[in-house]
Amino acid sequence: MPSLAPPYQAASTRLEEICQTLAEQGYVIQPDFLDPGAALALATECRQLQQAGEFRPAGVGRGENWRLRDDIRADQIHWLDDTACGPEQGQYLALMAAYRQTLNRQLFLGLVEFEGHCALYPPGSFYRRHLDQFRGVEQRQVTTILYLNEDWQAEDGGQLRIELDDEQSIAVPPRLGSFVSFLSARYWHEVLPARRDRLSITGWLKTRPIGEVFPLS
Ligand code: OGA
Ligand code: MN
Repeated sequence: MPSLAPPYQAASTRLEEICQTLAEQGYVIQPDFLDPGAALALATECRQLQQAGEFRPAGVGRGENWRLRDDIRADQIHWLDDTACGPEQGQYLALMAAYRQTLNRQLFLGLVEFEGHCALYPPGSFYRRHLDQFRGVEQRQVTTILYLNEDWQAEDGGQLRIELDDEQSIAVPPRLGSFVSFLSARYWHEVLPARRDRLSITGWLKTRPIGEVFPLS
């Protein structure tokens, strides 16, 4: 892991507070989490990958149940790989590793891994209401999303709508540098149709597969 450059270092000083809010509330919304200059550099790196043809249509389900379903989600994604990514993505992965360690230290979550992708929603695209845990595979515990869109306006749509426990919901605009994190199994959520390109990095902090700890055969 690279050491954190100043803007990422600054963001890391807020991780304990974010973790505390997650523990108390189950979700946390942190506008202006990452410095705008750093967030723009990250957006540029994602765009370069997209222009190089490194994004693929996202599907739903897992393994042999994976399907392309553009009636459910129509974003394009690129999975981050810490052994082969640009310096900005490397910094973000290092920041998410620090978040994982903070969660483990403060809440004893036993998170072992981060997996994440950049996601681009072209105009008109959305991601219907869903939960982030796959049925029968409960490794994803904590969802993280960083938004990378400069000058996002209310009329651009594309909010993340999270359904809270009391039948209320909140709509988070995907503004540059904003960070959202929530318990993956607990909150139904959706991405409302965006009217311009909507870029983000979505990821999950995971525990070990239970079958690895307790093999059945
Ligand atoms: C997802 C997701 C939300 C967002 O990729 O699972 O819910 O705001 N993304 O991009
Ligand atoms: Mn989701």
